[in-house]
Amino acid sequence: MAVDFVERVTRLERVESPGAPPRGRVSFNFDGRELDAIDGEPIAVALLAAGVRVFRTTPAGHPRGGFCFVGRCADCLMVVDGVPNTRACQTAIRAGMRVETQQGLGPAEAER
Ligand code: FES
Repeated sequence: MAVDFVERVTRLERVESPGAPPRGRVSFNFDGRELDAIDGEPIAVALLAAGVRVFRTTPAGHPRGGFCFVGRCADCLMVVDGVPNTRACQTAIRAGMRVETQQGLGPAEAER
């Protein structure tokens, strides 16, 4: 059975480092839903593991769910704790974070 890219990324990112102490589980809020993650893993990995495939929509309304996963594109921009344009692939998840799907360019300064 072929393993798609997203599944491979999720598996690779979730491998614990040999000899490192196990990391605990945390919960965070994604668009009003409580999800769980491994403390400190990238937000993108936690979302992919939870089955979320859309992180943002473009100003034209097209869905995007991550492309490079190394911080070089803009496909994973999300609103994290009220801050728009946060790269989900480069931001570590922490307990209680509020992660939202970003619509277009994200909320303007005045809306936050
Ligand atoms: S997926 Fe490309 S910067 Fe995050």
